[in-house]
Amino acid sequence: MKKVTIHTLRKMKQAGERISMLTAYDASFARLLDRAGIEVLLVGDSLGMVVQGHDTTLPVTMDQMVYHCAAVSRATEHAHLVGDLPFGSYQTSADEAVKNAMRIVSEGGVESVKLEGGAEYADIVRRIVRAGVPVMGHIGLTPQSVHKLGGYVVQGRTEEKAAKMLADAKALEEAGCYALILEMMPADLSAEITRSVGIPVIGIGAGAGCDGQVLVVYDLLGMNPDFSPKFVKKYLDLGVLIRDAAMRFRDEVRHGEFPAEENSFSSAPGDVKPQLYSIPGKG
Ligand code: KIV
Repeated sequence: MKKVTIHTLRKMKQAGERISMLTAYDASFARLLDRAGIEVLLVGDSLGMVVQGHDTTLPVTMDQMVYHCAAVSRATEHAHLVGDLPFGSYQTSADEAVKNAMRIVSEGGVESVKLEGGAEYADIVRRIVRAGVPVMGHIGLTPQSVHKLGGYVVQGRTEEKAAKMLADAKALEEAGCYALILEMMPADLSAEITRSVGIPVIGIGAGAGCDGQVLVVYDLLGMNPDFSPKFVKKYLDLGVLIRDAAMRFRDEVRHGEFPAEENSFSSAPGDVKPQLYSIPGKG
């Protein structure tokens, strides 16, 4: 499989080929998703919620993003790798934004960064792109502004807000974004934005008219039985499967059935496994 670059994604839009994108936060998931042929892997600051257990993405730090990006990049060969710039890492000044974007690329090993916000971030996007780092924009529901938005609610439902969203998309394209995320907006608005810009547009809760779709991988796998929003399709009930496997393990340990003889070492020399734990990508 060839490496997916920002140019591949643009060509896919031009050819009318849909782009698939998923989040990844660690090497084991990244290896599986990469081998499945997912074109874009996002180390999203959603990790603050699904991995760290916070109510919002706001507590996520640069150090944490770099740590997760580095883990994902070690196991990714084919997919284009995007790292989220977390809350507070790009809003204060263009210099700070450039410094953090470069850090997430150099230390985290990602190939582009994503930041939330519309036309008001055009100058910051320009500066990061000028420094050599491709930027993916993110408009609509921008979770880092949850308190300003008053919750996780669908955006762009009035004519005025829809017009602002369209203007934001054009401003971000003009500033040099190579792609855009549209989150939680009416399907007709996202389809209009997708038609109006030349860069690939990837939707989440934004209907079928985008050039591609992104989901938080834990949602698609059904890791949280209590979370079933309208825009997510659960392709698996992994939460139930994991619980059942853990219960079987617990029962087998209780009843002395695990470890069985084949899981135990004998005293014969040479009967030692060469590797302690599985390393993604190393079989
Ligand atoms: O952080 C994230 O996972 C995201 C996606 C939902 C697009 O921003």
